Amino acid sequence: MKQVTVSAPSNIALIKYMGKIEGSGNKPTNGSLSYTLENLRTFVRLTEIEGGADQWKPFVREDLQKIELSEKGQQRFIRHLQNLKDKWGVKKSFLIESANNFPSDCGLASSASSFAALTLAAAEMFQQINPQPWGADKKYLSELSRQGSGSSCRSLFTPWALWQHEYAEPMGLEFKDLHHMVVIVEDSKKEVSSSEAHKLVTTSPRFEGRPERAEMRLKDLSNAMRFNDWHLARQIVWDEFIDMHRLFETSTPSFSYMTDGSKKVLEDCQNLWNKWQDGPLVTMDAGANVHLLFRNDQKKQFEQYREHFKKDFKVLAFEGVKDNVH
Ligand code: PMV
Repeated sequence: MKQVTVSAPSNIALIKYMGKIEGSGNKPTNGSLSYTLENLRTFVRLTEIEGGADQWKPFVREDLQKIELSEKGQQRFIRHLQNLKDKWGVKKSFLIESANNFPSDCGLASSASSFAALTLAAAEMFQQINPQPWGADKKYLSELSRQGSGSSCRSLFTPWALWQHEYAEPMGLEFKDLHHMVVIVEDSKKEVSSSEAHKLVTTSPRFEGRPERAEMRLKDLSNAMRFNDWHLARQIVWDEFIDMHRLFETSTPSFSYMTDGSKKVLEDCQNLWNKWQDGPLVTMDAGANVHLLFRNDQKKQFEQYREHFKKDFKVLAFEGVKDNVH
């Protein structure tokens, strides 16, 4: 029986994918830019089985955290595998096992890393069964992954990934080996899924002009990074996540992921920035937690922020050095 085990990282967008073209297989209404989170990974083991339907089970391995997928989540994963099987013309049946190397109860989404890992595992397996000329083309695999979960297409490239239309591609930017911190202010499951958020934001009056605003920031942020302008980069990244959260708050019906905890963390970040006139890039996803990215030379601040937020919140912190978790 053939078996492959593959892992893929999560990513955090600095320019957000929010809003998709209806019925397009997750094509975005604007380009997005992300930093790959090498330390937050999903592991997928794919095993060929004798006939019957494809199945999903949690991947049980000592070093991994067991995940429970809802029936809907399992079906979405299995559907993605079916789509990949169709592309490769593979008829066999498979058992998918998946797990994360980070706790699933901390409100960190794993759809990007999960779908990227499943796409890569399937590509490795199917290239053995029915090799295709495009089967190892990362851009094409990114396009396939996008059809399962939009943001997952960026997880195939590191450290920076730019996604504009069909697939993501690597982007060469100045800053590398960033220190990453997540201040966990809320660890329960979010009430509005990102799939629902993508639909709801189009009802906001602020959605008009949103693709243009995001595209403009994408250009400005790339330039700021190219010119090593961290201060400007921080301002653009801040404006961008606030813009996305305003869309949520002005949708019909309106919704919000910001909690008092998030607001407190953002306020502290602002105060610490004002005090030191330097600090991390700050961003939030469709959730309450706050992500911080520090330059590699900001190790001391990284430790100071960790000590600061540890007093009130759970903090996940990863040093920006090449790790051996792959
Ligand atoms: O890939 P999805 O459908 O889970 O969308 C994720 C969207 C955000 O995480 C909110 C932003 C982004 O660009 O990753």
